[in-house]
Amino acid sequence: MEKISIWFLFVSLFLIIHVTDSVDDAARDSLVTLFTGLSNTNGPTDPSIGWNSSSDPCRDEWKGVSCDGKTNSLVKQIVFGNSSLSGFLNATALCGVDYIAASLNLLNLSLNNIGGEIQADIAKCKQLTRLFLGGKQFTGKLPDSMAMLGNLIQLDISNNRFGGELSGLARISGLQMLLVQNNQLTGEIPGFDFLNLDQFNVSNNNLQT
Ligand SMILES: *[C@@H]1O[C@H](CO)[C@@H](O)[C@H](O)[C@H]1NC(C)=O
Ligand SMILES: *[C@@H]1O[C@H](CO)[C@@H](O)[C@H](O)[C@H]1NC(C)=O
Ligand SMILES: *[C@@H]1O[C@H](CO)[C@@H](O)[C@H](O)[C@H]1NC(C)=O
Ligand SMILES: *[C@@H]1O[C@H](CO)[C@@H](O)[C@H](O)[C@H]1NC(C)=O
Ligand SMILES: *[C@@H]1O[C@H](CO)[C@@H](O)[C@H](O)[C@H]1NC(C)=O
Repeated sequence: MEKISIWFLFVSLFLIIHVTDSVDDAARDSLVTLFTGLSNTNGPTDPSIGWNSSSDPCRDEWKGVSCDGKTNSLVKQIVFGNSSLSGFLNATALCGVDYIAASLNLLNLSLNNIGGEIQADIAKCKQLTRLFLGGKQFTGKLPDSMAMLGNLIQLDISNNRFGGELSGLARISGLQMLLVQNNQLTGEIPGFDFLNLDQFNVSNNNLQT
């Protein structure tokens, strides 16, 4: 009996240590899938940036990835702005994994050549406070699910070709920055809470005023 509990303690300790010093394998693999979508270029990628299945996003300091300082195992920020990425944002890969959805608070892919639509799954990244997707290639309807990102403080989707309406975004009460200029958004400008919004630009869309 005693032997078993000691063994059990050992295994638990191993698991705890193991779990807390690296990113969950499934989460790492989703990030690799995300990056495959984002690096749809012809040339080879520099291996030193990481983003592969044989290294750890936090421990091996993948380019653009920041983790929590305490356990170094939770991905908090992905900042990959102005980095010549081209391809698409696989929001299902990124936000479909609880491990990432529960920790990621900043995603910055601005000023790349990332295009296509944004999948509704972006809304599963519920901890996002800052989302920067300013660029020129995103198209399609802004997903309605975006309104579920209730923790958003800053949203920049400027300079793309997004269609759809802004209405749901007015429900995000803590929003301080909303930059959606130069898109193809339609509908009315909803009743935002301008007490909080200190940066607001909806210019050059097809919005009704
Ligand atoms: C994986 O990424 C690490 C850096 O995190 C790098 O040293 C290694 O060469 C990469 N491996 C492959 C196969 O690209
Ligand atoms: C996002 O990326 C853009 C382009 O590199 C940069 O100008 C901006 O400061 C970044 N913002 C944040 C909050 O990371
Ligand atoms: C983007 O990167 C280019 C080249 O690396 C640089 O010249 C430019 O200033 C950067 N733009 C921003 C907004 O950071
Ligand atoms: C996006 O990610 C999901 C989940 O990892 C994956 O099943 C799917 O094949 C990816 N989509 C593309 C087009 O690569
Ligand atoms: C809003 O965006 C438009 C279009 O890019 C720009 O001309 C204008 O200066 C911006 N307004 C503010 C207050 O930044």
